[in-house]
Amino acid sequence: MKQNGVTIWLTGLSGAGKSTISDALGKKIKNFGYSLEVLDGDVVRTNLTKGLGFSKEDRDTNIRRIGFVCQLLTRNNVIVLVAAISPYRDIRNEVREKIGNFMEVYINAPLTICETRDVKGLYKKARSGEIKSFTGIDDPYEAPINPEVECRTDIETLEESVDKILRKLKEMNYIE
Ligand code: PPS
Repeated sequence: MKQNGVTIWLTGLSGAGKSTISDALGKKIKNFGYSLEVLDGDVVRTNLTKGLGFSKEDRDTNIRRIGFVCQLLTRNNVIVLVAAISPYRDIRNEVREKIGNFMEVYINAPLTICETRDVKGLYKKARSGEIKSFTGIDDPYEAPINPEVECRTDIETLEESVDKILRKLKEMNYIE
């Protein structure tokens, strides 16, 4: 089976659905028989980027380290799935340039929806001031201008979002 390495980079607010889409998409890609690795922001922050916080400098370091691992895997024909807020456009573009085979996927849900979901209770803490520099509340999120795929998780089903990404992967010849 033909496989070209690619990094599928899911960016979006906390609670927008990055990990949910990454899980469902990853299962499908694996079931097709492709080699896959997943780098999820939350998990990466417990090992590869442990100790980093949420200042712009630390977020940039986090994204650069994730990007470096993606670069190594992608050039060895692995399909890499990243789920990280990655709020800054310049760093996303920097890793895009370094990796080459790159697909940016904007996981888009309005802040009000993410805040209503509040899966981890972090928005509540950010609103009360218990957590500082929370993306979308008192820290910026720079939406992608021209992503390869945009998933509107407030109006699409999970299946629709996953299918959109799979279709793009085929269209770009990363999978058959
Ligand atoms: S970044 O900006 O890409 O470096 O962030 P990331 O590595 O994806 O980590 C985001 C997860 O960390 C939790 N968390 C915060 N997010 C944003 N801002 C602040 N201040 C913050 N503090 C903790 C949060 O659970 C994020 O997980 P997700 O899965 O996105 O909800």
